[in-house]
Amino acid sequence: MTRLESFDGSAWPPPLVPSEQARATEALEAGQILYFPALAFTIEPEERRFLADGWSAAVKNISFDPARGTLGGTKAEGEDAAGLTRLMSRYAQASQKLIEAVIPNYRGQIEMARTSFRPVEIAGRTSSPRHDDTKLHVDAFPSRPTAGRRILRVFSNIDPNGQARQWRVGAPFASTARQFYQRLPRPVPGSALAHAMLGLTKGRRRDYDHYMLKLHDAMKRDVSYQQDSGVEAIAFPAGSSWIVFTDQVAHAATAGRHALEQTFHLDPVQMKHPERSPLRVLEDLAGRRLA
Ligand SMILES: [Fe+2]
Repeated sequence: MTRLESFDGSAWPPPLVPSEQARATEALEAGQILYFPALAFTIEPEERRFLADGWSAAVKNISFDPARGTLGGTKAEGEDAAGLTRLMSRYAQASQKLIEAVIPNYRGQIEMARTSFRPVEIAGRTSSPRHDDTKLHVDAFPSRPTAGRRILRVFSNIDPNGQARQWRVGAPFASTARQFYQRLPRPVPGSALAHAMLGLTKGRRRDYDHYMLKLHDAMKRDVSYQQDSGVEAIAFPAGSSWIVFTDQVAHAATAGRHALEQTFHLDPVQMKHPERSPLRVLEDLAGRRLA
């Protein structure tokens, strides 16, 4: 069984009929990847220069904060920085329109977070084990606690040379959480407040954030889990786009370059099936509230 739920259409956003929107909502919340093989995000002629080497100052990503209009991780200055800002801002807006067209229930409920442009080839990139995104993991970020809110991401492969973006996708969240939960260290009382006061986290880390971070690390460290035969390899071709809850779907990006990504947050109560959220799954395992 594939983890991809596919949809036709090359117009952005694709005009889905209500039955397709219902299929998309069920699939996404069940941990499927909504896949649009023919939905390309168009790079304008004056933006093609950003697909050349040399714009990235960081190891992985150029980032954009749509709320502030600020760029990070790039050497671009002046007119170039303005052009890159336009490109990423355009992607942020297009991603919002895409989600609203595909899952009308989330309209007005999703909160726009960072945009990233990933120009660097993944294969052969070196990073510490914790930052190695070629290992299966669910997303959780040490400095940005979500307090149980979902991490919903839109990706587009914009590689000008036609190179696919290669992912591996692991078992469903509930079974993985059950597999790992008992060996995750318990939260230390007071440490979340200390992290917040020291400015290490943006907002206070909840027990939910603690468990998600520990789960993220434990998954990446577990050699036998990484080799599990239940893993599906997926190639997202250039000119395709996909939507996925990356806090729920175990994923590893193993090769590819030139992707755009937009993050949104969503309160699990806005889901059609809140009980499928990582928050609720972990709370069931813990037997108490975690956020
Ligand atoms: Fe990730």
